[in-house]
Amino acid sequence: MKKSPPQPHGANGVSSRAKVLTIDTMNPTVKKVEYAVRGPIVQRAVELERELSQGVKKPFAEVIKANIGDAHAMGQQPITFFRQVLALCSYPELLNDSTFPEDAKSRARRILQSCGGNSLGSYSASQGIESVRQDVARYIERRDGGVPCAPDNIYLTTGASDGIVTMLKLLVCGEGATRTGVMISIPQYPLYSAALAELGAVQVNYYLNEEKCWSLDISELQRSVDEARTHCNPRALCIINPGNPTGQVQSRQCIEDVIRFAAKERLFLMADEVYQDNVYADGCQFHSFKKVLFEMGPEYSSTVELASFHSTSKCYMGECGFRGGYMEIINMDNEVKAQLTKLVSVRLCPPVPGQALMDLVVNPPQPGEPSYDNFIKERTATLSVLAEKAKLTEQVLNTVEGIRCNPVQGAMYSFPRISIPEKAVKEANGQQPDMFYCMRLLEETGICLVPGSGFGQKDGTYHFRMTILPPTDKLKILLDKVKEFHHKFTQKYS
Ligand SMILES: Cc1ncc(COP(=O)(O)O)c(C=O)c1O
Repeated sequence: MKKSPPQPHGANGVSSRAKVLTIDTMNPTVKKVEYAVRGPIVQRAVELERELSQGVKKPFAEVIKANIGDAHAMGQQPITFFRQVLALCSYPELLNDSTFPEDAKSRARRILQSCGGNSLGSYSASQGIESVRQDVARYIERRDGGVPCAPDNIYLTTGASDGIVTMLKLLVCGEGATRTGVMISIPQYPLYSAALAELGAVQVNYYLNEEKCWSLDISELQRSVDEARTHCNPRALCIINPGNPTGQVQSRQCIEDVIRFAAKERLFLMADEVYQDNVYADGCQFHSFKKVLFEMGPEYSSTVELASFHSTSKCYMGECGFRGGYMEIINMDNEVKAQLTKLVSVRLCPPVPGQALMDLVVNPPQPGEPSYDNFIKERTATLSVLAEKAKLTEQVLNTVEGIRCNPVQGAMYSFPRISIPEKAVKEANGQQPDMFYCMRLLEETGICLVPGSGFGQKDGTYHFRMTILPPTDKLKILLDKVKEFHHKFTQKYS
């Protein structure tokens, strides 16, 4: 460890000491954390935006950001009913305002009645407001064709991220070869690698099959778990469906096979289902792990441990700033469940406005209610524009020689493979070649994407991740610029 240099005496005669917390003495697991989605490319994009606003000349007039799944920041409109109810809950004086529809008012009253002191500003129970958990349970039952759901198995969370990290905390233990290994897909959403690094768990990679539209092969899961057992104790398997960053939707058969595999290998399943309403491709359908588990009969449904996650951040809502979410836990040991409840109570409660929003997502306006038609209109409009943009992205990218893009079946991203000439790899000079590519793209065109290396990829392959969220006119400009840039870049380095 580096020694800090001796410190001089201050002017007042009190000796100033070396800092208690330095880069050498801080928690080393935090230093290992990486999060590409907000990494150096994005920092540079922010600088470029500032330079443009100061009148600095650039080869582009604006920076177009397609680096993060932040729908509202990219222009997606909120659902009116949700905002009306949240406004009423935040400022109950508005309940006297005749411009708000009656169903929004009755919903707001119901939410406020379940808040301490009838205020959205009070803490709730740590597991979440009971009436909201009941509504979540009923939503899951409807979604899963009647499979029962107990409100007691629902924990409201601060976005899905919080639920995922909390579950990982419960799972990670052991030292050396007995240290917990957690299987995650590669490419992955970097929350997983970051949380595992922070917790000091062993990241166990399994690769999605790019040639088969980023599907999941059980033989690859087997290879991965067998290899991991030589140096750690794999105890959990994480699946993201629909996928981020890869945009695939897993088939029902695949989910069944994964459940069978988890049962055989004694793995705790974590199903990240935050994109459950973002399914676009013909023939694709969202199947929840919970539903498939129960359809497989008691041999599985009464044994396989599962935590599944949902959020207010994605789908047609895109309300990520409210930090709403829930997790459902199935077959968890009762003593562990008590520990989970204790753990979440330390942080008091998830944001109550986020809980209120989650309630509206799982219990939207019903046929016959004043807000129903408009709710359906807005939800359908948002999802159909996303479906069009998913198709457009795939189509345009596949016209570019040297870029190959799988269908964007769901979620909000495409993860195309890009060919990078050997000369450019050399010029990258130790930098990840796709980071070099994305940085050049940003500097020359103002387009902000994330290099595939931030999500993990097979050695020797290069990708970028882009969201399909920019408004259609901007997305078209973005795709044209990527097309033109890729052509020039390839020519320059060939
Ligand atoms: C797969 C996946 N899981 C979880 C999250 C986190 O979402 P939240 O905003 O609910 O924490 C994201 C966000 O992009 C995601 O893509």
